[in-house]
Amino acid sequence: MGSGGKYRAAEMALKLVKDGMVLGIGSGTTVEIFLNLLGERIREEELEIYGVPTSYQSYFVAIRNGIKIVDLVEREPELCIDGADQVDVKMNCIKGGGGALTREKIVAKASKKVVIIVDESKLVEKLSMPVPVEVLPFAYGYVSKKIEELGATRVNLRYGSGKVGPVVTDNGNFILDCDFGVLEDEKVEEVEREIKLIAGVVENGIFSNKILDEVIVGRA
Ligand code: 5RP
Repeated sequence: MGSGGKYRAAEMALKLVKDGMVLGIGSGTTVEIFLNLLGERIREEELEIYGVPTSYQSYFVAIRNGIKIVDLVEREPELCIDGADQVDVKMNCIKGGGGALTREKIVAKASKKVVIIVDESKLVEKLSMPVPVEVLPFAYGYVSKKIEELGATRVNLRYGSGKVGPVVTDNGNFILDCDFGVLEDEKVEEVEREIKLIAGVVENGIFSNKILDEVIVGRA
């Protein structure tokens, strides 16, 4: 499973894009496939598409595909296309596997319509993966302790490859992966809010179904 389903989801999302649109552009490999397909349409149909990217990754891919970069001061995105790491049966999501969750949530909230594109491997009955939390480096010890008090059984500072030390986000912060076990539907918004209230937390990767309009699932 994987890239076939991602490709199918990206293809379906492409049909929602119209000439002159301003897009909120998420991050990740599924969004990259979407942008590459959109690039083909832009070249063939001579479309004018504007976009607000949510990471350096999607910024570079968008530019390469002829999308004109704008920011939220100038334009309100009509349609936001983004991926997800887990989607439950109630359409709640966990995002942030790529560490871009803060800008992704801002752009999703600023957009008129939000569409999530995933392959089948992302679908779960209930959310259960560790919740990514972006945190100011100065506050990470304090935030870790407070998140454990909220009920997380494990809080890991995220490390990556290509650089020694912790992952540093596009905003200059750290990521904590916080294991809350299974998140029941009625707990999703509460946990999102409680994490958000801790001093030093920038954002967390829980995207409740209130933010989303549609989930497109691509089957391989
Ligand atoms: C990045 C994200 C991505 O949307 C999420 O990780 C899905 O990525 P992919 O499409 O590569 O599976 O939230 O912060």
